[in-house]
Amino acid sequence: MARSLTDLAGLNVSAEDFLAAVLEAAGQPIWVVDSDGVIRFANPAALGALGYDRADELLGRRSHETIHYQHPDGTVYPATECPMLRPRTTGETVASDLDWFFRRDGSMFPVSYVSVPLAIPQGRGAVVAFTDIEDRLRAERVLREHDAVLAAQQASLRRIAGLVTGGAASADIFAAIAREVAEVLRVTMVQIWRSEPDGTFTVRGAWSERPQPFRAGTNWALDDPASAPFLRATQAGRPATVESLAELSGPVAEIVRASGMRSAAAAPIVVDGAPWGFMGAATDREILPDRVEEHLAEFTELVATAISNTQARLDLAASRARIVAAADAERRRVVRDLHDGAQQRLVHTVITLKLARQALEDVQGDAPALVTEALHHADEATSELRELAHGILPSQLTHGGLRAGVHALASRMPVPVGNEVSVDRLPPAIEATAYFVIAEALTNVAKHSGARRVTVTAWVQDGTLRIRVRDDGVGGARPDGAGLLGLADRLAVLDGRLALESPAGGGTLVAAELPLRD
Ligand SMILES: Nc1ncnc2c1ncn2[C@@H]1O[C@H](COP(=O)(O)OP(=O)(O)OP(=O)(O)O)[C@@H](O)[C@H]1O
Ligand SMILES: [Mg+2]
Repeated sequence: MARSLTDLAGLNVSAEDFLAAVLEAAGQPIWVVDSDGVIRFANPAALGALGYDRADELLGRRSHETIHYQHPDGTVYPATECPMLRPRTTGETVASDLDWFFRRDGSMFPVSYVSVPLAIPQGRGAVVAFTDIEDRLRAERVLREHDAVLAAQQASLRRIAGLVTGGAASADIFAAIAREVAEVLRVTMVQIWRSEPDGTFTVRGAWSERPQPFRAGTNWALDDPASAPFLRATQAGRPATVESLAELSGPVAEIVRASGMRSAAAAPIVVDGAPWGFMGAATDREILPDRVEEHLAEFTELVATAISNTQARLDLAASRARIVAAADAERRRVVRDLHDGAQQRLVHTVITLKLARQALEDVQGDAPALVTEALHHADEATSELRELAHGILPSQLTHGGLRAGVHALASRMPVPVGNEVSVDRLPPAIEATAYFVIAEALTNVAKHSGARRVTVTAWVQDGTLRIRVRDDGVGGARPDGAGLLGLADRLAVLDGRLALESPAGGGTLVAAELPLRD
């Protein structure tokens, strides 16, 4: 059996007292109008929300004139048009998701409300419950703006990523990134600055709504106080903002101010772990956009990727060019050596043999001497051809494998060589590359190290051939020498890597890794 409200929990209160207490305690603003639309009751939450201190300031006034249905210019609409009062005539509930109320001080605020008809002796009034939705609307707007920025940023990042992976020239990429950043972050100008070894900065990409003072390709000292906050922060790998450029002095600040900029931000560009430069953004508006540092940083990551990709591409092209050049040089060397060496010897041999034949026919006494000379030439030619063939590919290697190849190399070394090669036959390309690495390392030991001993180790581990050539000489080998660079290139062709450890006075270790594939 339904129990009346006032019976609740056995409390013997009057409906009036109960309702009064509930309305008093409720956080929900509520007021009641009579059949004339005059406010007869307002709970404390309603008074608070509407900015009234006491109930009598509000009671007795018409709600549509005081709170609701008037134009901001003061025009009051007729009560009959006020939707909130309609339940008095229709007897039906009216609800609104968005409407505007006036506070006591005349300010407007957005509300949602429900207006419920209330039967009273003179006819029909209404109970209105409303919620101030200003905070909610603001939050939603922020969210929408944020979503819009995010969407624009994602689209922009995708466009740039397309340029980067498409292999566009870096100048174009930098210019595109500067423009995208300016558009997405709604700033006035953007520059991508490259720090140079002499401490100056070169503009690598720039975009501006106004005449651009820092054009791509120009070089700046950036040593004035205005630049200091950015340089300090970017050197430390952190972004920075300067809220008011007006307070800064120095030539760069002058230029920036003269172009109408008021505040600026910058984020460092770090390429493969090393500082490369920074991206700066400035605005002619009062304040910088929200979280500009964070957004800048997202773009600088792309800049870094673009730079790193371009560098990798250039490295690869340079390496290919070096391989081709080395192969050409090698071919020329072989031709020259053949021409100057073995070929000359053989010519001499033939001539001498002809002379010997003539001497034999004439029965002259110097035939044995001529034959001896011819033999000598033939011997020399043989060993020169052997030497030459060593430079190409020694038969020990092609017939006996890497261990045999190293054995042959060791036999020509002026210092003892420990041969700790423990690999069986490998694919020919791997064997040849491994052989050339060891041959060059050993030649370097003989030429430069002054070592007393050298050890060659080679073994296969995890599908990779590992090679170590370690000497106990003077150290100080330079990885950028033609010989060692050539090795790195040769290894790179087979996805291999070269590492060099050569502290001054501490001997030299040449280490190479070569993945084995079928
Ligand atoms: N084992 C080593 N001990 C000491 N110094 C070395 C050693 N290997 C190389 N170096 C030093 O490093 C430099 C670079 O070596 P690299 O093999 O690249 O050039 P190179 O031997 O001088 O010329 P190339 O190999 O083209 O004939 C050498 O000039 C030498 O000064
Ligand atoms: Mg060398």
